[in-house]
Amino acid sequence: MTEASIRTAVPADLDALVALLGELFAIEADFRPDPKRQRRGLALLLEDRLRRAVFVAEVPGGVVGMVTGQLVVSTSEGAAAVWVEDMVVAEGARRAGLGRRLLQAIEKWGTARGATRLQLLADRENLHALRFYEARGWSGTRLVCLRRGGV
Ligand SMILES: CC(C)(COP(=O)(O)OP(=O)(O)OC[C@H]1O[C@@H](n2cnc3c(N)ncnc32)[C@H](O)[C@@H]1OP(=O)(O)O)[C@@H](O)C(=O)NCCC(=O)NCCS
Repeated sequence: MTEASIRTAVPADLDALVALLGELFAIEADFRPDPKRQRRGLALLLEDRLRRAVFVAEVPGGVVGMVTGQLVVSTSEGAAAVWVEDMVVAEGARRAGLGRRLLQAIEKWGTARGATRLQLLADRENLHALRFYEARGWSGTRLVCLRRGGV
């Protein structure tokens, strides 16, 4: 898929991004798709260009992949860290290197803003995604995720 490009998302991408998140949240047991909420969330991300990033993978047929990143401060690092979320490539466009390129884009974005760590949450049963991250130098931690509220 040599014609694919990775670029920053714009509001005109919202429909495609909501559809991609529908694909992602249908896989992850902790979430359920809700297009209105996803649209609202994406709009919030797009509003803050300084601390938030949305990258898309685009082929001539349209947007087929995305990833988002949000800067937080890590006291452990004494520096910024990036929460990486919403990593998904449409099923028909997988295994062509787009996931790798999206991850590189968010890493470069974070590093340029002083982040010394990237972090994400993954479904423990999503073995393909876990292998994908491990192959790119990510490692698991002993932390568990807790939450209060939300769906
Ligand atoms: C995880 C995910 C984002 C990876 O995206 P992708 O575009 O398929 O990723 P890449 O193509 O960069 O790499 C995937 C694999 O294809 C391989 N690959 C890359 N280019 C290839 C090619 N031309 N031919 C064959 N295989 C190739 C890579 O080596 C990689 O293998 P590995 O995982 O064993 O290391 C994608 O599978 C996905 O959207 N999954 C569903 C959503 C999901 O689980 N998201 C993660 C939430 S935490």
